[in-house]
Amino acid sequence: MTLTTDAVPVGDSAIDADWWRQAVVYQVYPRSFSDANGDGLGDIRGVVQKADYLAGLGVDAVWLSPFYPSELADGGYDVADYRDVDPRLGTLADFDEMIAALHSRGIKVIVDIVPNHSSNRHVLFQAALAAGKGSPERDRYIFRDGLGEHGELPPADWQSCFGGPAWEPVGDGQWYFHFFATEQPDFNWDNPDVHAEFLQTLRFWSDRGVDGFRIDVAHGLSKDLPAALPSQAELDAMDATGGRHPLWDRDAVHEIYREWRQVFDEYDPPRIAVAEAWVATAERRAKYATPDGLGQAFNFDLLEADFDAAQFQRIVADNLAQSEVTGSSSTWVLSNHDVVRHATRYGLAPLNGSRVKQGSHWILAGAPAAQIDLEQGSRRALAATLFLLGLPGSTYLYQGEELGLHEVGDIAPEDRQDPAFFRGADPDRDGLGRDGCRVPLPWTSSGASFGFGAGGAHIPQPGWFAQYAVEAEEADPSSSLNVYRRALALRHELQTVEELEWIRTGCADVLRFARPNGWQVVTNFGTEPFDLGEDAGRLVLSTQPVSGGALPGEATAWIAPAA
Ligand code: NOJ
Repeated sequence: MTLTTDAVPVGDSAIDADWWRQAVVYQVYPRSFSDANGDGLGDIRGVVQKADYLAGLGVDAVWLSPFYPSELADGGYDVADYRDVDPRLGTLADFDEMIAALHSRGIKVIVDIVPNHSSNRHVLFQAALAAGKGSPERDRYIFRDGLGEHGELPPADWQSCFGGPAWEPVGDGQWYFHFFATEQPDFNWDNPDVHAEFLQTLRFWSDRGVDGFRIDVAHGLSKDLPAALPSQAELDAMDATGGRHPLWDRDAVHEIYREWRQVFDEYDPPRIAVAEAWVATAERRAKYATPDGLGQAFNFDLLEADFDAAQFQRIVADNLAQSEVTGSSSTWVLSNHDVVRHATRYGLAPLNGSRVKQGSHWILAGAPAAQIDLEQGSRRALAATLFLLGLPGSTYLYQGEELGLHEVGDIAPEDRQDPAFFRGADPDRDGLGRDGCRVPLPWTSSGASFGFGAGGAHIPQPGWFAQYAVEAEEADPSSSLNVYRRALALRHELQTVEELEWIRTGCADVLRFARPNGWQVVTNFGTEPFDLGEDAGRLVLSTQPVSGGALPGEATAWIAPAA
C-alpha cells in the first residue's frame, strides 16, 4: 500500500507551513510535568526549566494541556478565563518566556482550546446566572425550563459523560446542560457572541506566538435541541454516523471550523489545529482534517487496538487511505492524559479476548496487580512506539511514555482528583478515573517528589517511580528514554516522502514496511524470534537485543537503507 501526498523533504524551510505533517508532538500535562516553585503543582516555569530536556529528546512540538485559570473541577478542562495563565502556574510573562525558550530550540508550541464548555466560574456563565431567564446572557449557554409545576424536574433524563445527570438546576426553574462535570456548562454555539469569544481567543494566543491548537471535544460544539427533548434512551438509539445526531458529530460543526481556518490563515505560517473527535468512523474523522477546517484530527484507532499485527496493519492502511482523501497527514497516538498508559495496557491479562476497550481504565479497575505483566507491557509498548515513529504522519507522545512509565493503579480515593471517578462514570469506560496517568513525573531517583519539584506532588507518586526517573534512565544506555532519543534523532532521516510499502514477511505476527528512501521498520508482535536475513547487517536500532540476525518477540527493529 502506498500513499503519496506532497513529495517534499522534511526540514526544508521553504515548506515550513507543513511542519506539522510529520511532526513528533509531545504532550505536556502542565500540572504534572515539572514544578519550578515547589508548591506541588507543575507550572509554566517548570516547562522552561525542562526546555533542554525536550530539545534533547528530539521532539518537534509541545502540546500543552490547559494551563488557564481554573477551579480544577476537570484537571483544567474547566476554563475560567481563556486568555490568561492560572496564577498557580505562572503569568503571561512566564508563558512568553516559555514560548521563547522552546522556539529558540526549534520546538513549536500547541495549546489546548476548550470550546464546548467553560468553567461555571467563567465571567460569561456568571453573567448568565445573574441576568436570569430569557436574557441574552443566558442564550450563550444551553438553558431550558425544568419540567414539573415549578420546574423542579430536569428537562430530560440525560446522563453526563462522567456519569450522573447532565442537567443542573439554577434555582429559578431553569436548568443548564453539561456534557461533562456540573462545573462545565456547555456553550450555545448558535449564539454569535460565543463565536466572537473564541475568535478573539485564537487570535490572542496566535499573536503571542503559539503555532497551533488542539481542539477539545471538537465533535460536540454544534447541537440541535428541539423544544421537546428526546429521552436518553431515544438519544442512544439515534444514528450518530450520519452527521445529524442532536448532540454529536453534526455536519454543522464544520461551519465553525471554516470560520476558524480564516483566522489560522491570517498568520504566516498558518496556525495549525488538531481535532479531538471521538467519532464513529475514519470517514467521519476525516471531515475534521480538511484543509478548510481544522486540518488534522487525532486518530485513536491504534490506541484502542490490541498489540496485534493484523489489527495494526489494517488500521494503518485504512488511515493512510483516508489521508489520501483529505490531503492531511494521519496522526498516531498510543497514550494521552485520558487513557491508561500503553505500557500498562499491553501488560494486562486479556479479558473477553481483548486487552483494551475504548482505551479505557475499566480493565485496570478489575485487574489485580498480579494480572499485569509489567515487563511484557514495557516490551510491547516500546515495540509499538517504534512502529508508530516509523510511519508516515505525525506522532503524539504523552509525557512520561518516553520513560516507559506505567499507570499508577493504587491511588487512594482521597488523593484522586478526576471527576469521572467521583461521578461514577460508566464502569465500561472510566470507572477508575484518569488520575493514574497524571501522576507527576519522576526526574530524579530520590529526593522530594523525585525531582518533580522542591515540595510534594499533587497526586502522590509511588516508590517504584525511582527506577523510571529521567536521571536513572539517562545512565542506562538501553533504557526506554535512550531508545526514544535515538529513534527521534534517526526519524529525521527516515521521514521524507509520506509513503509506505508493506513487505511480505511470511509470518502473520510480523509486520515489515519500507519508506521510499529505503528505511525499513520490522515489528514482531509474536513471541517467536524472526530472522531478519541479510538486512540484519544494516540494523541501527532495536527495542530488544538482536543476536544471530533474529529479532526477538515483542520487538521492533529499524534498518537503514542499503549503501
Ligand atoms: C477531553 C479531554 O481530553 C478530557 O481530559 C476532558 O475531561 C474532556 N475533554 C472534557 O473537556
